[in-house]
Amino acid sequence: MATKGSMRLDNKVALVSGGAQGIGRAVALRLAQEGADIALNVLHDDERAASARAEIEALGRRCAVLQADVSQVAEVRAMVAEGVRQLGRLDVLVNNAGVEKRADFLDVSEAHYDHVMGVNLKGAFFLTQAFVAHLKETQRPGKVINMSSVHEELPFPHFTAYCCSKGGMQMMMRNLAVELAPLGITVNNIAPGAIETPINATLMKQPALVDRLLANIPLRRLGQPEDVAGVAAFLASAEADYITGATIVIDGGLLWNYSEQ
Ligand code: NAI
Ligand code: BGC
Repeated sequence: MATKGSMRLDNKVALVSGGAQGIGRAVALRLAQEGADIALNVLHDDERAASARAEIEALGRRCAVLQADVSQVAEVRAMVAEGVRQLGRLDVLVNNAGVEKRADFLDVSEAHYDHVMGVNLKGAFFLTQAFVAHLKETQRPGKVINMSSVHEELPFPHFTAYCCSKGGMQMMMRNLAVELAPLGITVNNIAPGAIETPINATLMKQPALVDRLLANIPLRRLGQPEDVAGVAAFLASAEADYITGATIVIDGGLLWNYSEQ
């Protein structure tokens, strides 16, 4: 943790979507530790949201809890306006909210497809649009960080809608990196591998599946939310000013592991 006086994100305000648990919560806390005030988007304004807010405030930072379903464009626009109203401005956006559903391709319903694409891709698309409109209006630079996945690249059979959403996020990031550069806005993806969060709760209850997964990870452990949070803090900081259009993989070597035996 950075100490006071050397905080990389002093005077910055960051909006983190899906911030009540898992990776989003770890990212929000880490950005706060680095000096940022936090607009914490949550799907439900419940006790997890309250405890995340309390942890952020205990670090001496401001925190606005913003309830919104990111798949609903009107809610997303209202949320950005409310974040600006409460915290004065936004400088950093972390598109973290995401859902994952398993189904054989032939069993994917329209509701399954719409839910996964609506949260993971449409949500990030229109939240970024509202954030960029705010930056443009106030003539300030900013940083967009998307929580993608190794599955923006790597097939994940039985999770096709999920992979479509993350593959779409890869091209959204590359397009916007080019289109928004004249506004001084950088856009990058983080591609985690297997991180121990509630999204993997079903997997974690099946030791045989965990062992098979670990056998594919050269570093032989699951990632922790904090492994991801440090990279998000770096990408949000001035140290990453010349990085745009990039995906940073955090996967213990999973993506490029291949062995014939
Ligand atoms: P998680 O299930 O703990 O967190 C997801 C968060 O998104 C929750 O706080 C949830 O409330 C929020 N969310 C879901 N629907 C929402 C909506 N409609 N509006 C607003 N918020 C909503 O899972 P985790 O692991 O923390 O996932 C965070 C991101 O990281 C996701 O985008 C996921 O795809 C990505 N990721 C996770 C990996 C992992 O192994 N845990 C690996 C690669 C990517
Ligand atoms: C998924 C996890 C999975 C990991 C590695 C992530 O995108 O959310 O469920 O364990 O990729 O396959």
